[in-house]
Amino acid sequence: MEFRQIPASLRRLCLLSLPALVTSFGTVNEPNILGQHNEHEMVTRLAFQCPGPKSDGTCFERRSLDQLAGYHLDFMGFPIVGGGFNGAVGAPDTLDPVPEGPVAHCDDADFVAIPGYPQNRTAATAALQRCVDHLRVRFRQAWVSAEELLSPEGAIRPDMVELSNPFGGDCVFAFPSLQNPQSGRAKCNVIEGFGRALHGVQDFYAHSNWADKEDPNQPISDVNPPGLARTDRAPFVVDLGATGPIPEDQIPYNLSTGCFVINDKTPGEGDCAGRVTHHTLTKDHGIINLDGSFGSVGPDTPRSEAVPENFHLAVEAAVAASRDLWTNFRAELRKRYGRVHSDMMICSLVRDDPANNCHNHALAIALDKSIASMDRRADEVGLAIAQALTGRLQFDGADKVTVVEFDESTEVNAPWTGPPVSKHQVDQIHVPDSQPNIGGGLALGIDEVINAFPDSYTDKGAVVMLTAGFVHHTWAGDTLLQLQRARAKGIRVHYGCINMPPVTETELVLEKKWQECSPGDGVIPAVLKTGGTFSFINQRHNTKSASHFATLILDHGLTGVDDAGEGETTRLSPGIVPASMLGASHPTRRFSYLAHQGESVNFIVTDRFPDAQGTGGCYTWTLTTNTTQEVISTRTLCSDTEQGTFSLPFTAATPMELVLTAEYEGEAEGSSEEQKGDVIFTVELETDVNTDVAEEDIMEGDNIGATGAHVPGFRSRTASTDGSVPASTSRTGEPTGRGHYELR
Ligand SMILES: *[C@@H]1O[C@H](CO)[C@@H](O)[C@H](O)[C@H]1NC(C)=O
Ligand SMILES: *[C@@H]1O[C@H](CO)[C@@H](O)[C@H](O)[C@H]1NC(C)=O
Ligand SMILES: *[C@@H]1O[C@H](CO)[C@@H](O)[C@H](O)[C@H]1NC(C)=O
Repeated sequence: MEFRQIPASLRRLCLLSLPALVTSFGTVNEPNILGQHNEHEMVTRLAFQCPGPKSDGTCFERRSLDQLAGYHLDFMGFPIVGGGFNGAVGAPDTLDPVPEGPVAHCDDADFVAIPGYPQNRTAATAALQRCVDHLRVRFRQAWVSAEELLSPEGAIRPDMVELSNPFGGDCVFAFPSLQNPQSGRAKCNVIEGFGRALHGVQDFYAHSNWADKEDPNQPISDVNPPGLARTDRAPFVVDLGATGPIPEDQIPYNLSTGCFVINDKTPGEGDCAGRVTHHTLTKDHGIINLDGSFGSVGPDTPRSEAVPENFHLAVEAAVAASRDLWTNFRAELRKRYGRVHSDMMICSLVRDDPANNCHNHALAIALDKSIASMDRRADEVGLAIAQALTGRLQFDGADKVTVVEFDESTEVNAPWTGPPVSKHQVDQIHVPDSQPNIGGGLALGIDEVINAFPDSYTDKGAVVMLTAGFVHHTWAGDTLLQLQRARAKGIRVHYGCINMPPVTETELVLEKKWQECSPGDGVIPAVLKTGGTFSFINQRHNTKSASHFATLILDHGLTGVDDAGEGETTRLSPGIVPASMLGASHPTRRFSYLAHQGESVNFIVTDRFPDAQGTGGCYTWTLTTNTTQEVISTRTLCSDTEQGTFSLPFTAATPMELVLTAEYEGEAEGSSEEQKGDVIFTVELETDVNTDVAEEDIMEGDNIGATGAHVPGFRSRTASTDGSVPASTSRTGEPTGRGHYELR
C-alpha cells in the first residue's frame, strides 16, 4: 500500500469516507453519484451463485458468497449508499484506509500502434506484468492461507470457518489492525486473497480492449483504440499460479488497458495526456441481473455508449474468467495439498456450515444379489451404479461407504464378493419366483449407516437400494417398515428399481419391451418421504444408466445436508425414469433436458395411482423452452379420471433447454378420504439421438466434478466397521475382513 504516492485529492476522499473509488467495475451500489451498480458483486454472483441453497461443490452457498461477492442493501428499491458489505472482490476498491493502486485493477498498460504514442509496447507490457504479478501474490495468499482451514489430520477447524453470525460476523478485509476479533479466520483469509485476485481478473476485461470493439465510425486513435473482440480468455490473468514473465505470444500487440489518474477523462489529462485513459476504455458500469440479462449500460462510459454490446462482452468474459480462476485455484490447492485435503478445503470454502456438512457422511449401497436379479443381469447394473456413485465421491477419513448384499435368503450379511458365480452357472439356475429380501437389505444398510457414526448419522446418512425386485404387491410390509425407520432416523433412501429385458419365451412372444420392476404397494411415496429419490432404471443403457442415476442422486442431494432445496430441477436422461411427488405442501416440480439441434424427444408422464403408489389428484403439465417465452404445450391430468399416462413429443429446431413443469391443482373430484395426499408420477424421456453423444456431455460434467469436489459434503471412503484394510472396487475385488470392501 503506497499511501505516500496517493495524491492529496484522494486523501481527501478518504477523509470523506466514501466507500469506494470509481476505478473499476463498480463496487458500491450508488447509481446517482458514482454511477456504480455493484458490478463486481453481480459478476461474482453470476459466476458462483448456487441454483438452490446447497452447493454442488463449486458454487458458493449464501453466506460464503456474501463474503466473496459482498452484498448491498436497499430501502424499498432505493440503494442505501454504502449500506452492506463490499466483500473480498470489492476489497481493492475499499478505503481501508486507501484502495489498492493501479496494479490491482490492471490500469496503465495502455498502448496504441500510432506514431508518437507516449508509451511503447514494452512499457505497456511491463505495466501489465506488474498487475499480473500483484494478482499472483493475492492468489498465493489464498492458497497459503488455506492450510489453516484444516487440522494436520485433515479435519475442518470449526473456528477457522465460522460465519454463522449474520450480524457482525462478516469477514473483515483490511489492515490487520482494523480487523475484528474474528478476523483470524482462515476462510476469510482465503476468500480475501482469492477475491482480491478475482477483482483484477474481472477488471482486466472491463479495463482493456481484449473483448471489446472500437467505435467503427471514428478513426483509430488514443480516444478510440482498436478493440480486439476476442472471445477467448487471456491465459495470463487466470494462470495465477505461474511465475516469471508472461509468455510474449500471449500478449496481443494491440492490447491496451487505460491510463488512470484521479481526473479520469477522455481525452486524457496530466500524466495520461495523449494516452488511452481508463475513462476511454472503461466498461465498468451498467445494470447486470442475476439471471445473466442486462439493463441499461453506463453512465459515463463512452466505449459502451458507442458500442453497447461492449459492456455485455466485458461482463460475460469477466464471469467466464472468474470461473476459470476458481477452477485454477482448486487445481492449485490439489497440487499443494493433495486430493483429500484440497477437497475438504474446497468444501469448507463453498459451504456455509462446513464443520457439519463436509464431514462424517455414511453411505450404504445395498445390492440385490438374488438369483432373479442375476438371471436378468440386473446385478450388473447395480454394480455399475455402485461404481459410478463411489467413483464420483471424494474419499477421506471422515466419511464411510459400505456395500451390503442381499438375496432371497435371509443372509443379508453376505459379504460383497463381486459376481458370486460365473454367467455360465447363472444361466443354468433359473428360479424366477424367488424373491429378494429388500426389507432385509434395507435394514442392513440402515444398520451400517447408524453404526458408522452412532452419534451423528442424522441427515448425513443414505442407503442406495439397487434391486430388480419383483415384489408381489402385498409383500412390501418389511420394506415399508424399514423406510419408515430410515425416515425417522434422518437417513435418505435412494431406490433404483431396475427394469429388466424380456427373457422368457412367453415374454418374447408377447413382445414385451420391459418387465417393469415392481417395488410393492406404497413403496415409492415412502422412499420419497425419506428425502431420497426413486427411479426406474432401464437396463438397456447399462453403464450410461449407471452414470445418469449417480448424477440424479448427487444433484438431488445424497443426504439431508446435501439437499438441493426448493426449486430443484431434475435433469432427465434416457434410461432413468424418476418418480416424483406432488401435493399441497410441495405443489411444483420441474424437469429439464438439454436437447440437441434436430433432436426429437418424447416426455412420457405416468401417474402411478393405478400401481397403488400415491393418491388421486389433478395437476397441470407445462412444457417450455429457454428460446421462446411461449408455452409449447400444456395439459391437465387427474389421476383417477384418466388413463394415467400421456406423452409430450417435441422436436428441437435449435439447441435448447426444455423444461417440464408440473403444478398441483388439488384433489381429484370425488376423491375418497384415503385418496387424499400425495400424487406420485414418473417422467420418462425418450430421444431419437444416439445417447452415446449425450453420454459424452454427461461425462464432461463428471470430469469437472472429479477435479473440483463435485460432491463437497461427501467425500467417502469405504470403511469396514471392523477396521480391516479394504481392497478395490473392481468386480475382482478380494474380500478383506468380515464383510465390507473398499470402493475406490
Ligand atoms: C520503451 O520505453 C521505455 C521507457 O519509456 C524505454 O526505456 C525503452 O527503451 C523503450 N523501448 C523501445 C523498444 O523503444
Ligand atoms: C494493430 O492495430 C492497427 C490499427 O488498428 C492495425 O493496423 C494492425 O494491423 C494491428 N496489429 C496487429 C499485430 O494486430
Ligand atoms: C438455450 O439453452 C441452450 C442449451 O443450454 C443454449 O445453447 C442456448 O443458447 C439457450 N438459448 C437462449 C435463448 O438462452
